[in-house]
Amino acid sequence: MTTDDPTTLFTLEGVTAAVVGASSGIGRSLSLAYARAGATVYAAARRVDRLEELASEAPDGRIIPHEVDVCRESDIAGFIERIEQDGQVATVVLNAAGLFSYTPPPMPDEEFAKVLDVNLMGTWRVLVAFGEHLKRANRPGSLITIGSSCTTFTVAPSNHAYFASKGGVENLVRWVAADLAESDIRVNLIAPGWIETDMVETALSREDRVSILKEHLPLKRIGTTDDVTGAGLFLASEASRYVTGITLLVDGGLALNRVWNIRPT
Ligand SMILES: NC(=O)c1ccc[n+]([C@@H]2O[C@H](COP(=O)([O-])OP(=O)(O)OC[C@H]3O[C@@H](n4cnc5c(N)ncnc54)[C@H](OP(=O)(O)O)[C@@H]3O)[C@@H](O)[C@H]2O)c1
Repeated sequence: MTTDDPTTLFTLEGVTAAVVGASSGIGRSLSLAYARAGATVYAAARRVDRLEELASEAPDGRIIPHEVDVCRESDIAGFIERIEQDGQVATVVLNAAGLFSYTPPPMPDEEFAKVLDVNLMGTWRVLVAFGEHLKRANRPGSLITIGSSCTTFTVAPSNHAYFASKGGVENLVRWVAADLAESDIRVNLIAPGWIETDMVETALSREDRVSILKEHLPLKRIGTTDDVTGAGLFLASEASRYVTGITLLVDGGLALNRVWNIRPT
């Protein structure tokens, strides 16, 4: 199949999308991007007031808020029920819900478990439930979730639970992708580096830390949520129709880890 107008590959006109973790940061930004690209977006998170504010910014009422806690399987089931009651099938699903944790060891077991519950189990619950939703409707689809560029070779002290969870998410995506491929459901991961959002506000609040980060980032700047839009749109749209099971790094080159500033000549 050839495409006469390649720009149409990126449209989401007529698509129904579901975004979990839509109340702030990357999920919020991609919800708006999807709506602006033509999708109707069911936007979920725990803070409904934030979702309503987001909906007020969307063109033509294309964002529909819904309360979901990814730690509750019943909330995710209720979210899908709502979409199905509206006669819709979410063929694009983005899970951007995430919990960060800076606690140095010894981190209490409960806190470690909470981070895994939101980041790893939450991703699992969303992928399984929406995979079933698509299979019931006999529709192809694209499931996207968010890992972290720091599961590559970059390491830093502390943050064990968070990066353990993100390592799990990255592997999970590949295995679920293998399972769902026969149903024409693609599953991919976006792995951001440092992106200015509420999650990393404390980390980025000190100028000395920001300077160290910029020094180590090959592209020499902290990312913004807008920097993730292209990747989010690519994986949601027809543009990526032959892509599944990948990790798409959006990290300013952070995963290059060490770029030796020497030239052979
Ligand atoms: N910012 C970065 O530098 C960076 C780097 C690498 C990866 N990431 C990943 O990117 C994703 C988005 O994070 P962000 O940076 O955009 O942070 P953020 O602004 O703090 O957004 C986190 C989102 O997750 C939602 N969330 C948290 N717990 C939830 C729960 N139990 N149920 C449902 N939703 C929940 C929050 O909504 P409610 O609180 O309203 O529920 C919020 O919408 C996360 O997976 C994060 O780990 C971020």
